[in-house]
Amino acid sequence: MKNRPDAILRTAQAGYLERLLPSREPLLVEMESFAAREGIPISDPEVGRMLRMLVRAVGANRVLEVGSAIGYGAIWMARGGENVRVTCLERDAERRRLARGYLERAGVLERVEILAGEALEVMRGLVPPFDLVYLDADKREYRRLLDFSLQLLRVGGVVIIDNLLWKGQVADPPDDLEDEDDEAETLRTFNGYFSMHPQLDSLIVPLGDGLGLAVKTRPLVTDMGGPY
Ligand SMILES: C[S@@+](CC[C@H](N)C(=O)[O-])C[C@H]1O[C@@H](n2cnc3c(N)ncnc32)[C@H](O)[C@@H]1O
Repeated sequence: MKNRPDAILRTAQAGYLERLLPSREPLLVEMESFAAREGIPISDPEVGRMLRMLVRAVGANRVLEVGSAIGYGAIWMARGGENVRVTCLERDAERRRLARGYLERAGVLERVEILAGEALEVMRGLVPPFDLVYLDADKREYRRLLDFSLQLLRVGGVVIIDNLLWKGQVADPPDDLEDEDDEAETLRTFNGYFSMHPQLDSLIVPLGDGLGLAVKTRPLVTDMGGPY
């Protein structure tokens, strides 16, 4: 048990953990450089590793990624097992094109489908159950994306959500609130919802930009019917 709230993750600890991270395959390193150069947001490598670990731990066969950009997270998750199939949702056509190229070079394209459009629309056409859902899209839509994901996820399945601590601003707002991104306030509200969700056993860990992890513990029974 830590003896004070900031006892673990300070600059030295964060740097140490980063240095300890095993090196990645050349294609992933190339994607990291490309994304940094082009200003395309992709998952942190430690988050990629966590995604792959959880896919393996859950024995996931069907994975849904909401917000896929150039396919970096999808490659990590597809590497979690030979039978893993990943459904990627991405609204940006150029990023989908780039993702296809990288996924092909990674040798996993035949196990990954990339669907175009707004996630909330596309999700309506998906057939449950999924074993694992990774949410990494527009933060303003997280609540609705989570609600919808829970209808697609099996009980015992895992939800992973990126950026919940948003550049550190969620827990530690800048002195001048004008400098705070809109996402920080949105995520503060969302994090309460996520942490107290009655269908989830959830936790936010200080990995990457703040990673939400949860297991769906029960179906939702509503007065509209269900269970979902
Ligand atoms: C942070 S990036 C995803 C990174 C990716 N998950 C990875 O592991 O590298 C977020 C992506 O979500 C896409 N996106 C955001 N909101 C979306 C939505 N409502 N529907 C579909 N795609 C969305 C953006 O175009 C962007 O490419």
